[in-house]
Amino acid sequence: MDIIRTAAELAQRLEGAGRVAFVPTMGNLHEGHLKLCRIAREHGDTVVASIFVNRLQFGPNEDFDRYPRTFDADRAGLERQGVDVLFAPLDQEMYPTPQVYRVQPPPLADDLEGAFRIGFFGGVCTVVLKLFNLVQPDVAVFGKKDRQQLKIVRGMIQQFNLPIDIVPAETVRADDGLALASRNGYLSPDERQEAPNLYRVLREIADSIVGGRADYSNLESAGRAELAARGWKVDYVAVRHGLALRIPHPEGYDHPNLLIVLGAAMLGTTRLIDNVDVVKQDGKD
Ligand code: PAF
Repeated sequence: MDIIRTAAELAQRLEGAGRVAFVPTMGNLHEGHLKLCRIAREHGDTVVASIFVNRLQFGPNEDFDRYPRTFDADRAGLERQGVDVLFAPLDQEMYPTPQVYRVQPPPLADDLEGAFRIGFFGGVCTVVLKLFNLVQPDVAVFGKKDRQQLKIVRGMIQQFNLPIDIVPAETVRADDGLALASRNGYLSPDERQEAPNLYRVLREIADSIVGGRADYSNLESAGRAELAARGWKVDYVAVRHGLALRIPHPEGYDHPNLLIVLGAAMLGTTRLIDNVDVVKQDGKD
């Protein structure tokens, strides 16, 4: 695996590389990321992963400084997956001057995650667009755990006519249901035990919808109340239409197959997010 730090070396390395499949990450890799790399392998001749902790997507009170940086372990993991190129630029390579030109994402970016992380998706889209321009992938693989990110990046690709296929990948979970996430490493042993309840609550709402309930706001409030009673500080529990992430029709006209349930909540100082398809739809988003 070649480790590349600059845009110029990257362009040289990718000359004649055939079909390029790309997995952008912020490092601190877990099995979920490694699965994205294995999926990328099926879609390209050359697999490129990037590690870049993007300060533009962190709010002033968020964890940019304490975000775990585990380069050696990450490199070893990527190497084991047969990744061909690791692009790990320094901050000054990506942002040699202050990034005053930014992608302005659509109103969806102010909802759900964006309502609690102001400017987050603008920061994500800006760095993803820059990474796409540098790597020029044919395919990019994004995890469904960050469902809203997946939607927004997809929309950006369409509206900016970028010739990139986005491949969604299922969320990888621990045996107890907790979605794998870099921030899980912040959890204390007690919090780690509590953490799978986010998934359980979302899953139970999904199962109630499958069972015929269409009073989504009652289900959402009950889910929020249950998590709050267990000590979580809940940002949102929301039933949404899976395509546009819009609020579903209150009278249940949306087919359950198209609905998803999303949640985000703080456990102690750790913010966890997750989502489930009401009816499990592997690989779709
Ligand atoms: O999902 C992530 O890890 C990040 O948001 C991404 C896509 C690598 C952009 O920094």
